[in-house]
Amino acid sequence: MRTISRPLIRSSRNLTGAALSTWANVPAGPPDPILGITEAFKADKDPRKINLGVGAYRDDQGKPYVLNAVKKAEDLIASTNPDKEYLGIIGLPEFTKNATLLAYGADSVPLKAGSVAATQTLSGTGALRIGGTFLGRFFPTAKVIYLPTPSWGNHTPIFRDSGLEVRQYRYFDKKTVGLDFAGLKEDIQNAPEGAIVLLHACAHNPTGVDPTPAQWKEISDLVKEKKLFPFFDMAYQGFASGNTTKDAFAVRYFVEQGHQIALAQSFAKNMGLYGERVGAFSLVAANPEEKARVESQLKIIVRPMYSNPPLHGARIANAILANKDLYKEWESEVELMANRIISMRDRLHDLLTSTHNTPGEWGHIKSQIGMFSFTGLTPTQTKALAEKAHIYMTADGRISMAGLNGGNINYFAESVSKAVKGSL
Ligand SMILES: Cc1ncc(COP(=O)(O)O)c(C=O)c1O
Repeated sequence: MRTISRPLIRSSRNLTGAALSTWANVPAGPPDPILGITEAFKADKDPRKINLGVGAYRDDQGKPYVLNAVKKAEDLIASTNPDKEYLGIIGLPEFTKNATLLAYGADSVPLKAGSVAATQTLSGTGALRIGGTFLGRFFPTAKVIYLPTPSWGNHTPIFRDSGLEVRQYRYFDKKTVGLDFAGLKEDIQNAPEGAIVLLHACAHNPTGVDPTPAQWKEISDLVKEKKLFPFFDMAYQGFASGNTTKDAFAVRYFVEQGHQIALAQSFAKNMGLYGERVGAFSLVAANPEEKARVESQLKIIVRPMYSNPPLHGARIANAILANKDLYKEWESEVELMANRIISMRDRLHDLLTSTHNTPGEWGHIKSQIGMFSFTGLTPTQTKALAEKAHIYMTADGRISMAGLNGGNINYFAESVSKAVKGSL
């Protein structure tokens, strides 16, 4: 007897023509706000087009930049003819050792004591997600995390998906285009005891506004007094000032003050290893025995998620961090990237003010730090810039300064000026 086999998955092209797909009820999600900009940019055929949406460094010709230190590290690695075996669950041990050394510093007491638990991660995003999941599972008090307003757009979904309740603390003052320090302190003061506070270690994304060292000291005191837990996101070490030590000030100060911090590190920006996905999550434990227990749980989180992290990028980052000559070259390239961005800030400020007499206050273009600038442009102005001048940025007026160069900054400044004057 012949049996008629029924397909397991119902297709929308079934015999009756009815829409019976298994996924018929899946709603379309909104496009990612930043990747959507890149798509619009790619579709635009105008030769003057500029993409300032994505946070990736570009050289003065507007091209992606592969660091010399990275190229040399790859040659060095290739010369040893390495295998492609699996890494352990928490990654390349030399890499996490050197990555934490870069963040915490050689004098770090918990690092020297062997009390810092760490795992290699899928870049900064992976570090935040592993850290969020660990806190969701083991944080002893309320599983509430406070994020600055505004913050990097991915923070909220990362921590929600990690099982934490997300709340906000004030950070940016639209009137001064600077830090709302009074609001920040008041909101942290009012957070429930034992809450987690997410702090951008340097080069705050999207605002480019960082606390001063004196303000960091006040924040540290408040966090301690309120028994809050600091979770640092350090995606831009070196990019703020051009100096990795200077940019690690807040992290190192908090650790010196006895905070048991959590830390997410990314090597996407400072080594230009975006697509290699190189990062680390670490946590200051009380002693080596506690560190070992924490690491055993990090392994339990990682294993069913992706088993173990990718090898190549971690080898590159480690080769740079471990080799004196490569490290030196990398430091100077970080400085070069940061300085090019700083020079674009100065130039843009001068063009907007002296050359084009743009209405408004533009000092923040120079005072903001790192890859991004929160220009203060309105959604109407950013829309007009995209539609009429082929210049793409996020609707909140954030621009990646790294997307500006000698070839496009004049056109950009002129267009912004026109948009502000309403004459675009
Ligand atoms: C504040 C912040 N944290 C983390 C990340 C994570 O980046 P990645 O996962 O590429 O390292 C970014 C990237 O833009 C960021 O801006």
